[in-house]
Amino acid sequence: MTAGGRPDLPGQNPTLTTIKPFFSDINYSAANEDGASELAALRLDARSRVLCITASGARPLELLLGDPEAVVAVDFNATQNHLLELKMAAYRTLDYAAFAAFIGLRPGDAAGRRDTYVRLASQLSPSARIYWDAQASKLARGILYCGRWESFMRLFARLTFSRRDLLRRLFACQTLPEQAELWRREWDNGVWRGFLGAISQRWLWRYVLREPGVVNVPADFDVAGYLHARFAHVAQTRLFRDTPYLSLMLRGSYDPAGVLPLHLAPEHYETIRARLGRITVVTQDLALLLEEPESCGAYDAFSVSDFSSYASPAFHERVWRGMEQSARPGARVCERQFLVKHQTLNRGHRDDALERKLVETDGAFIYSFICVTL
Ligand SMILES: C[S@@+](CC[C@H](N)C(=O)[O-])C[C@H]1O[C@@H](n2cnc3c(N)ncnc32)[C@H](O)[C@@H]1O
Repeated sequence: MTAGGRPDLPGQNPTLTTIKPFFSDINYSAANEDGASELAALRLDARSRVLCITASGARPLELLLGDPEAVVAVDFNATQNHLLELKMAAYRTLDYAAFAAFIGLRPGDAAGRRDTYVRLASQLSPSARIYWDAQASKLARGILYCGRWESFMRLFARLTFSRRDLLRRLFACQTLPEQAELWRREWDNGVWRGFLGAISQRWLWRYVLREPGVVNVPADFDVAGYLHARFAHVAQTRLFRDTPYLSLMLRGSYDPAGVLPLHLAPEHYETIRARLGRITVVTQDLALLLEEPESCGAYDAFSVSDFSSYASPAFHERVWRGMEQSARPGARVCERQFLVKHQTLNRGHRDDALERKLVETDGAFIYSFICVTL
């Protein structure tokens, strides 16, 4: 049933109808993904029209590196789109050093960020302008870490404070065997397992973090065991120093002098800036957008990570039907999934080998993938 007591329609998005307040502010502001995987899976070219979910804005910005003709970034949470608009205005107007200071990747002072915002504000849509005009403290701290999820990561990082020296040594490792041994010998003990068990409590997600997606995680899914296995995997397969997502999770922020998510790396700044005009931002429910007549046969690629966290099985299926209808022949889909592993019916050609490879190599190591050619 919905909050108003109406019965759920098949395929209706239960999250949107019942827990709207969660989606009235920014939940994701940094990059909780590794865009290299989407670029590898979608194999974009100059004729590609891509539909993706906005979230922090990292995904649409990184998809530009595949040189597509157009990127439509959709999110039903308008504030996620406001964040993307502000990031785009910053790319357009600032050089890399000023951009990094404004968003909070590098140190910067509150007054300087406020002055920069005043320079950027005229480029925003009216609704984004109204939102950001009222967000003095987010702007003062820098918008890169302003999301709810990023606050949670900062808390996560603070809770590992007693291991600060060990963390420093893990991020200093130069080889995988050295790092894997340090992880196994000193990090992965009863305290770590107890910590993962504590932060995987569903009541914590539901009542403290107020994360609506928790209702979609099957009751028998071992969240702590899953996280433990994924951390153990990444400790053996990727150098911490080369994995920005680990820095975000365990230290609460990126190392501005280290390896960065693709869209924040200085070497990609000018390319992204030159292609910003290809992004269209849409505030809409993904399923509804896909079902609009103009969407029919409109896209060559879909990057839909990870809407399943907020989807019932019926809604997940409805989105896949929508993608099928709005796909051009040979269109590719890359869906990331975190704790909610809804599957899709036999659609197109599913690339199991690619999915396994991405699970092995992706820098945001907590996800699995569905990769399909429609
Ligand atoms: C779990 S987040 C993805 C976060 C992602 N890992 C990142 O950091 O970029 C999912 C995003 O999809 C949006 N979203 C979820 N379901 C949606 C839907 N049905 N239609 C449009 N946007 C949706 C949410 O508002 C959120 O911004």
